[in-house]
Parts: sequence; structure tokens; C-alpha cells
Amino acid sequence: MIGGLSANGPSGPGGPHGPNGRGSGAKPSHAYAAWGDYWAGVLDDWIGGEIDADCLAVLCDLADGGDVLELGIGTGRVAIPLARSGLTVHGFELSDAMIEKLREKPYGDKITVFQENYVDVAVEGTYRLVPWIDWGPVLLHSQEEQLTCFRNVAKCLEPGGHFVIEMPTRLPLPDGRGNGDGNEHLVVESINPSSVGLWAVDYNPVDQTMFTQQVLLEDGSVTVKPVRMRYASASELDLMARMAGLELCHRWADWRRSPISSSSPAHISVYRKPPSS
Ligand SMILES: C[S@@+](CC[C@H](N)C(=O)[O-])C[C@H]1O[C@@H](n2cnc3c(N)ncnc32)[C@H](O)[C@@H]1O
Repeated sequence: MIGGLSANGPSGPGGPHGPNGRGSGAKPSHAYAAWGDYWAGVLDDWIGGEIDADCLAVLCDLADGGDVLELGIGTGRVAIPLARSGLTVHGFELSDAMIEKLREKPYGDKITVFQENYVDVAVEGTYRLVPWIDWGPVLLHSQEEQLTCFRNVAKCLEPGGHFVIEMPTRLPLPDGRGNGDGNEHLVVESINPSSVGLWAVDYNPVDQTMFTQQVLLEDGSVTVKPVRMRYASASELDLMARMAGLELCHRWADWRRSPISSSSPAHISVYRKPPSS
């Protein structure tokens, strides 16, 4: 059964965007909303409009017919195929632009969106599956916020329910050979016949935060998009999960459930709330 929302933090609830329309609450204004507003126009082109069949199969297995709460629903790349599979899907999303893209899509109107910062809002309800897919934890700005998310998720999962994270194992971290204090550096992400993609990164090795500018040089134009992140390794996420009362039950390299190795570029980590809790 789905419950409601309770505000833990400063933003307070702005009201759900139910399947039948937009909520009537105050519009949130938050730094995290800016990220989504900035990237909404390009997200589907960059990572595809929908998750692939392998990812959908894993998520449906883990949901096992139960309700789903997605953290950072974006344009519905994950939520829409899950809803089309017959699951009840709710999700958090701060960005107006992302929600607009979601609503334009078939099935986009079937999904209840809470336009809230998922760090600040504890969910009262019982979900079988919480996906935090595509860089989820890294997009938060501090360890404290990342840990709060684990604790919030642990509260809203039903016993035996699963929390799934997908994120890269490697980020554009400095290798110590940069200029100055070595914390600012430039990474070449892509080279194509008409474009070059770069990351300009300022990394703080003490708290693992980074401010990056993603730079695209293309046909005589330059686009610069800022992203603020906090790196957390897979083992640090495991520790946060343990502090929140969750246990790691799977770690794969991809959605085909391939075994993870030290050279895997990404990890899919599945945490479970113990059935007896
Ligand atoms: C990288 S996108 C991924 C979207 C989706 N999960 C997917 O896999 O396609 C992250 C999404 O989370 C949203 N987001 C980031 N931080 C958030 C926060 N603290 N609260 C609510 N939404 C957030 C962003 O606006 C963005 O739409």
C-alpha cells in the first residue's frame, strides 16, 4: 500500500503530480532541479528513450508485481516501461522540464510524480522496489545526503524489498598529473568527425566532491554544462546500506547479470531489506 510523504527538510512537500494532472502545491526551487532542467532536452538522445529488455526483465523480477518508487524519474526512461508492464509506479522528480518530457510520452500520464527533493522527503508507504538508476547517488552533493537517501529508502521498502543502484565505477577523477594542486584536470570523453566532448573537473579528494563542466565542441560552437557531484565507490555505498539496515544481495557488471570485475565500467548493486525486519 502506498502511503504519503512527510517533509524532513527545508523544502517541504509541493504536492504530487498524480496521473490525472499536476498537483496544486507550491513549486519547489532547488539546486537539484537546475540539473534536470538543463539536461532534459538531451537525456533521451544521450542514453536512449527507454531502458533495454535486460534491464526491464531484472527490474520486473525484483518488483515481483509490487509497487515501485523511482528516485529521479527523469523523462520516464525507467518508469514508463515498468508501468507498461502493469506495475504501479511512483517517482520523485524535481525538474519541470523532465516532468514535461515524461508527460508527453504514452503512459507518462499513468505515473504519479512527487515533485520533491528525495533527500528531504521521507516516504511513508511500502514499496517492493526502489530503482536509483543512471548515476543516482553521484548526483547528490554530500555523503550526508547520500546516507539520508539510503535511510529513507530502507524505511519505505517492505521487508524483502529491493533497492537497485546503477552507476559508473569510474568517474573523471584526477590522476595527480594535472596543473596547480592537481585537483583540476581535463578528460577527453569523445572524439568524433565533427565534435569533441570534454570534462573539465575540479575534484576535492578530501570529501570526494567534484564540480565539473561538460564541454562539447561541435561545428564551431561550444556548449558548457555544469554538473556538481559526489563520488562514492561501490564499497562506500555498501557501508551506507549497512548503516541503513540493508544488505547487498547482488552486484553485476550489466543488466544481463554478468559478474562484476575490476575492469567493469559500471556496477549494478541490488540491496535488500531483510525479510524478517
Ligand atoms: C541522470 S537522470 C536519470 C533519470 C532516470 N532515472 C533514468 O535512468 O533515465 C537523474 C534525474 O534525477 C533528478 N534528480 C536529481 N537529483 C534529484 C533530487 N535530489 N530529487 C529529485 N530528483 C532529482 C534529475 O532532475 C534527473 O531527472
